[in-house]
Amino acid sequence: MKEQLEAIQTEALEKVAQAEAPKELQDIRVTYLGKKGSLTKVLKGMGKLSKEERPVIGQIANTVRDAITTAIEEKTEKLEQIAMEKQLEAEAIDVTLPGRPVNVGGPHLLTNIVEEIEDLFIGMGYEVKEGPEVETDYFNFEALNLPKNHPARDMQDTFYITNELLMRTHTSPVQARTMLDYKGEQPVKMICPGKVYRRDTDDATHSHQFTQIEGLYVDKNVRMSDLKGTLDRFAKKMFGEEREIRLRPSFFPFTEPSVEMDISCKVCHGEGCHVCKGTGWIEILGGGMVHPKVLSMAGYDPEIYSGFAFGMGPERIAMLKYGVSDIRGFYTNDIRFLKQYHKA
Ligand code: DAH
Repeated sequence: MKEQLEAIQTEALEKVAQAEAPKELQDIRVTYLGKKGSLTKVLKGMGKLSKEERPVIGQIANTVRDAITTAIEEKTEKLEQIAMEKQLEAEAIDVTLPGRPVNVGGPHLLTNIVEEIEDLFIGMGYEVKEGPEVETDYFNFEALNLPKNHPARDMQDTFYITNELLMRTHTSPVQARTMLDYKGEQPVKMICPGKVYRRDTDDATHSHQFTQIEGLYVDKNVRMSDLKGTLDRFAKKMFGEEREIRLRPSFFPFTEPSVEMDISCKVCHGEGCHVCKGTGWIEILGGGMVHPKVLSMAGYDPEIYSGFAFGMGPERIAMLKYGVSDIRGFYTNDIRFLKQYHKA
């Protein structure tokens, strides 16, 4: 019986060694260790053995069973390992292949310009504020010294929602809102970028919705020369150190005196050309010293405080800076137009 068992072991281990697939190993298990397997058959004959022989043969049978089981397990593991390696090899990724190009978006030209202007003023100590686009008649007009029926209201054709509510025609209402927030006690130094709306017919230079950036500086002893210095710094940073500015007298109900600012033409440097229509100068923004009435309506005593304000259109600035000739380019999202201005 001992020889029989040993023969089973030798045969089974040989088969395991030759097996090439997990299925073969399963069959080997059944053939030798299964209910009707050869080892089981031998063991069934153990009843005929003597008392002394039985434990000895039982021991050998266990050893044989263990040897076969272990051999099958090890071989199974080995075959699985080989299968896994084959699969990994078949699915290998070539990391040296060039990738497919991905279309990357970027901020809109106007966003870039607004951020550039913001950064410039933040560098001069200004805060960035926001105000509502749906505004009250009071803040859009009255608080800016434009009472009802004032003829200057016609300068800004307005989209009214109700008698008292409108789409703001400029960012200037944020001046009054910010001063009220500061309760007439602290200096105010803010800019406010945002969308504004006017009942205009869209063409190359007009749009019913466009962008403005408002500026306001209120403190003790703020003077016209401060306005001029600030705007000069802005113009040189934005358009180049060689640019000159000039202030012309103008009129806005919320400033007194009021000015319009021109920058020297970058094409002809003041000689006169088609870009500046022969004048050598290009108009770029409006501003002035905050009207005493505007200060006092917003809670600042004009005997103690003074201030300057200005308002500009980022579209116009972008058009001048980049030679864009049609304002509609900013709003129609033609990717060919926008792509030209993507920053790297
Ligand atoms: N709000 C004016 C406009 O929309 C622009 C402006 C002019 C703003 C003078 C100001 C200012 O703050 O002082 O035409």
